[in-house]
Amino acid sequence: MAPEELLEQKQAEKQEVKGYFETTGFDRWNRIYSDSDDVNKVQRNIRIGHQKTVDEVLSWIKESGTVSDVSFCDAGCGVGSLSLPLAAMGAGSINASDISEAMAKEAERRARDAGLDMAKLNFFASDLESLSGSFHTVCCLDVFIHYPQPAAEEMVKHLCGLTEERLIVSFAPYTPLLALLKGIGQLFPGPSKTTRAYTLKEDGVVKAAEACGFKLMRRSLNKAPFYFSRLIEFQKA
Ligand SMILES: C[S@@+](CC[C@H](N)C(=O)[O-])C[C@H]1O[C@@H](n2cnc3c(N)ncnc32)[C@H](O)[C@@H]1O
Repeated sequence: MAPEELLEQKQAEKQEVKGYFETTGFDRWNRIYSDSDDVNKVQRNIRIGHQKTVDEVLSWIKESGTVSDVSFCDAGCGVGSLSLPLAAMGAGSINASDISEAMAKEAERRARDAGLDMAKLNFFASDLESLSGSFHTVCCLDVFIHYPQPAAEEMVKHLCGLTEERLIVSFAPYTPLLALLKGIGQLFPGPSKTTRAYTLKEDGVVKAAEACGFKLMRRSLNKAPFYFSRLIEFQKA
């Protein structure tokens, strides 16, 4: 495919993702990332798996000491599942953004409802590509599902450029079994309920960070039925 065509395809896909998370996707994920009973079994399991990822990030951050002077960037913040507990822990500042204005607004609403210190929280709509600035810790959880491998690796490099000390990312890892299941799914196409989902080869993600001078510090795999997410912490070398 010609580079212009690739770019056009990338933009179109991004618009599709944005449209989804402003509308039906917002509705669905807002329920998944809540304690609402209005979820099916799959959604409940995704909720459980995702909470494991969030809890692990929070425990890694807690282990590293006080956060009162730490600036955070929560890239693709969703409804604030990470930003809110970080704020409750007393984080110095949190810049939380999402491509979907509906998601970012809901995150802000939840933070206000929870009585958090809004002076330290900044919620806004932005895609990852447009983020700028410099933060002690950058987190990007479960967003790369919307990025094919080369774009995800480029994005890891972009996020490294925003990071002073620590970068934490999670993504659905590529495994031959998942690839097989996905392949079988594609043999039986049905009405799509979501956007396209990509799994990533971990090696490529790690190499992208290493190319920017970051070192892999620790990693884990968080699982529940229908949820499978590799979590990695990188430190600037
Ligand atoms: C599965 S949710 C995860 C949300 C959050 N990181 C969390 O773990 O609770 C994925 C989020 O990524 C956002 N997103 C998708 N593509 C994005 C992009 N290119 N830039 C910024 N946000 C994006 C979606 O709007 C959605 O809120």
